[in-house]
Amino acid sequence: MSRTLAVGTYSEEADAALAETFDPVRLAAIADLASLDETTRAGIEGVAYKGGGKPFGPAEMDLLPKLGLIANFGVGYDAIDTGAAQERGIAVTNTPDVLNDDVADFAIALWLMQRRGTDMAGRWLRDGRWASEGPPPLAHTASGGRAGVLGLGRIGHEIADRLAAFKMDVHYYARSEKETPGWTFHPDPVDLAASVDVLFVALKGGPETAGFVTREMIEAVGPGGCLVNIARGNTVDEEALIAALRDGRLGGAGLDVFVGEPEVDLRLLALPNAVLQPHHATSTHECRAAMGRVQRDNIRAFLDGRPLPTRVA
Ligand code: 8YV
Repeated sequence: MSRTLAVGTYSEEADAALAETFDPVRLAAIADLASLDETTRAGIEGVAYKGGGKPFGPAEMDLLPKLGLIANFGVGYDAIDTGAAQERGIAVTNTPDVLNDDVADFAIALWLMQRRGTDMAGRWLRDGRWASEGPPPLAHTASGGRAGVLGLGRIGHEIADRLAAFKMDVHYYARSEKETPGWTFHPDPVDLAASVDVLFVALKGGPETAGFVTREMIEAVGPGGCLVNIARGNTVDEEALIAALRDGRLGGAGLDVFVGEPEVDLRLLALPNAVLQPHHATSTHECRAAMGRVQRDNIRAFLDGRPLPTRVA
């Protein structure tokens, strides 16, 4: 009987590696957990979780009485109720660091796409308008302005490093001032938003940061500014964001995450000043393979009774 359960859809390579290492029971979604028979559930000690944002809470944990580890596929583990896990003696691990470069690259790409109008210009070409109407409308310069990073953790720091190479004056908000190469610390996030041309949201997800980016902050970025979110959809007040983009109180946005994803608010789809991506920042073969390795390392360590490499709760 298998001691592990793999939840979610993995790449072919990650899937094969999971099969070879643990031969886990498979479930497409955590919602299907109750459909597993009781004997199978009773044998599960570790879960490889790729939940697509679906909550792993006390009800799910109680269906797995021997559970000792939830190994999350992703750095953000906001979908897992860590308090409920702790109460039940269940450890939680994530996959940090190996995705920093891909996520930071993607944040920069969203910014460049928004400012340079690449979505619009690409469509212009494909629609044959270049030949029939001439070049597309002009876009905006990205380099050389002022950039703000909200949350200077591992990913935020990588974003800031890249921004410096784009000759940006780098500003940031974090819970405390960090030692940085000349970047400006703002203890007040609204003040940060008001001081920059582009604001990158790189905060940790979860209840503590839900709604952190308020209407006031969005409007402080302003009609000439751009907001990029690679954190979590609910970190930003999405209603306020849509209204500000629609009414021109915010110039543009580059969004990889959404409230209620994979469903995306239809009002966003209609906005020409929003670049939208389907939570795609870590979607490379290289990054996903590395994340899979970290996830499996944690499961292996747990089953062998060794310390967990990247424990978060
Ligand atoms: C993951 C993410 O790749 O790491 C995270 O926290 O948000 C991702 O980009 C995704 O959650 C994996 O399913």
